[in-house]
Amino acid sequence: PRVAVIVVAAGSGTRLGAGAPKAFVGIDDHTILRHCLDRVFAARLAQVVVVAPEERVGEALTDAQEAAGARRELVSVVAGGSTRQQSVAAGLAAVWPDVEIVLVHDAARALAPAELIDRVVDAVERTGWGVVPVLPVVDTIKRVDGELITGVVDRSELASAQTPQGFRRDILETAYRVAGEEHTDDSALVAAAGHPIASVEGDARAFKITTPADLQRARTLISPAPA
Ligand code: CTP
Ligand code: MG
Repeated sequence: PRVAVIVVAAGSGTRLGAGAPKAFVGIDDHTILRHCLDRVFAARLAQVVVVAPEERVGEALTDAQEAAGARRELVSVVAGGSTRQQSVAAGLAAVWPDVEIVLVHDAARALAPAELIDRVVDAVERTGWGVVPVLPVVDTIKRVDGELITGVVDRSELASAQTPQGFRRDILETAYRVAGEEHTDDSALVAAAGHPIASVEGDARAFKITTPADLQRARTLISPAPA
């Protein structure tokens, strides 16, 4: 099937606080967006749509074309919106007519490997369902009411969700068309439209760079091991 990946990179990065929109902050001499796209372009896909802040569209195009190499005709860059959901909708509008499967991926998950991307595509192809990569929750999770601990949640029925999340294109488009309120992620939006969602195994490398400590972790992971 023809696969498009929408890479949402239009956020401001308030929690990272690096003085620039998060996707354009350097991990090494390459940006978060560029690292993400290097991995995206190692996966099987037909189109990559990057959603960037309006004033960074040119910079995003440069990053995307460098990551694409000889496949630069696969790249589209569009301006995002003020919420992630609006940014995804903007990306979706730029997906080519013959694309059958759409993945939505956070640029902030810069180190998510190509094999994770391919695993999500394979699962969408196999099931026709929405697909979310998940990891088990490692901490004991408490229910709290202010200072008071009111209970413990059974960890075995919880998982933490990552991206890329994958969908049949027709299902994702319909779900976005009918979506009323803001949803926490694309799979919640698609589930709200009545479609089943499956999980596949996530990847620790697909953690989201949110805080300065996360950026430091990414820097450590990509730096060469000491001799
Ligand atoms: N995103 C986007 N458009 C928005 C908000 C977020 O494209 N209006 C993207 C971000 O660029 C990021 C992904 O959605 O790749 C996940 O969002 P998050 O980690 O929350 O990034 P930011 O919103 O930039 O960070 P913060 O919430 O700390 O401001
Ligand atoms: Mg945000």
